[in-house]
Amino acid sequence: MSVLPPNPESARAPMNGDPPLTDHEYDGIQEFDNPTPGWWSLIFVLTVVWSVGYWIVWELDPDAPAPGKLWEREAAVFNEAQFAKLGKLEPDEKTILSMMGNADWMPVAESIFRANCIACHGRNGEGNVGPNMTDDAYKNIKVLTDIPQVIRLGAAGGAMPAQRNLSQNEVVLVSAYVASLRGRNLPGRPAEGAVIAPWPKSAPAGGK
Ligand code: HEC
Repeated sequence: MSVLPPNPESARAPMNGDPPLTDHEYDGIQEFDNPTPGWWSLIFVLTVVWSVGYWIVWELDPDAPAPGKLWEREAAVFNEAQFAKLGKLEPDEKTILSMMGNADWMPVAESIFRANCIACHGRNGEGNVGPNMTDDAYKNIKVLTDIPQVIRLGAAGGAMPAQRNLSQNEVVLVSAYVASLRGRNLPGRPAEGAVIAPWPKSAPAGGK
């Protein structure tokens, strides 16, 4: 290796206030003896020590309260509180009608439908192996309160399975959602059964 001459461009004359120089020199490059301050090194060492405990807790402990888990727990508590606020919903006409017009609860009802019913009734209720819910014809429904009945007990010898995993509140909510699909007339499975009388007028406005 050849030794390069010092680069006059990067060299400068020593100035007052410069820290002392270290005793090594490479290719004419000298270094000030200018170590990082003690407080900085201390913080660095602490972060390394901290990382060991952090890694043990977050990577090895399955019960570590990770943000996702905390969120899930909080959401469960929140949902329970919401359901508690709702009280026990009765599967009667008045309750179903009022839920149909409830902008806070219809999205919840829709998610119950999405989670339990779309395999057979189609993503938007247009029907698949189960009937189209968006027209005016029904096989097992004559009045509004027949809907929770069919959901709870099933129909056609189990072709429509009884929804035993749903709570009563969930049955009432999803009944209101199913009832609210009526009249959208989405293309899908052709109408089956008999055309029934319109649902009674809902008391609160805003139903779909
Ligand atoms: C395994 C498929 C399947 C699932 C899942 C299913 N259904 Fe059904 N459902 C059917 C079939 C099939 C019928 C028609 C029964 C008949 O022919 O009488 C039906 C009928 C109905 C009816 C009566 C419609 C009519 O015209 O008489 C309602 C209301 C209904 N289902 C609601 C629901 C709801 C709400 C869910 C979800 C919580 C659900 N179903 C889940 C298959 C299903």
